Amino acid sequence: MKPLIFCLSANNTMGELLLKTNNYEYGEIEIRDFPDEEKYIRFKQSIKNRDIILLNSLEYPNNKLLTLLLTAETAKTNGARTIGLCAPYLAYMRQDKIFNKGEGITSKYFAKLLSNHFDWLVTVDPHLHRFHQLNEIYSIPNIALHSTDNIARWILNNINDPLIIGPDSESKQWAQELANTTNAPYIVLKKIRHDEHKVEISIPKLSNYLTYTPVIIDDIISTGRTMIETVIQIKKFKIKAPVCIGIHGIFVGNSYDSLLKAGAKEIVTCNTINHKSNKINVANILDSGIQKQLNH
Ligand code: R5P
Repeated sequence: MKPLIFCLSANNTMGELLLKTNNYEYGEIEIRDFPDEEKYIRFKQSIKNRDIILLNSLEYPNNKLLTLLLTAETAKTNGARTIGLCAPYLAYMRQDKIFNKGEGITSKYFAKLLSNHFDWLVTVDPHLHRFHQLNEIYSIPNIALHSTDNIARWILNNINDPLIIGPDSESKQWAQELANTTNAPYIVLKKIRHDEHKVEISIPKLSNYLTYTPVIIDDIISTGRTMIETVIQIKKFKIKAPVCIGIHGIFVGNSYDSLLKAGAKEIVTCNTINHKSNKINVANILDSGIQKQLNH
């Protein structure tokens, strides 16, 4: 029997794409709020001895987490054989160190919570910075998939003479790999983050690349400040308007419009989080990751 896939977010285009592969059966679940906002959860078909997958991208995770964990426990109670989590975007990866006295490492606590309730995890390009592998914090089998081949294909099909630009040291891993795959030059800038809404980006050395199209690549676009400040620096040169690529586009507030206003020619994201900028489909890699976990 095919594994059952349950889409926990409304408007789940990734769910539709995965179902189109014919590798999964659509799972029906009822999740609703009681008047006091506690959750009511019911699997609408038998899941006894079935492999089930909960598909839930975890942007704005706080409201989703409890439902996710309660759903996993409900699946156990109803006899599911295995319960996997497919989270195209995995949250709580950025607080990976104690920066100030009194803080904790929320990445670890979040990982522990999910590891306690799921049999496996599949995600796309989690923000691995001080942790180098999910195994350092997740105790369940996990796969961190890479979107770079899909992004490289989009760049090759859409951009002539790209110059890949990573806005900060963390983005080097993606910038370097994309540059190799697309056979393009790359540069990595320096970022100083003063707080969540204020960042400074170093002035890029672009004089040798004035005929290229700048392509800024970052894993997450959240407040958009990293991208916006990078665009502002690039615009100081007589060079084409930059294309901004984010793997995961969260776009807090009006950051999408602000980034266009700052001078981005185009904003492109992978479809790990539903957004109008989704132009790079990563369903194929998610499907292969899930299949690996199921056949493990
Ligand atoms: C952090 O270093 C990440 O790689 C991104 O650069 C960061 O999350 C972007 O956040 P924001 O859009 O809020 O500047």
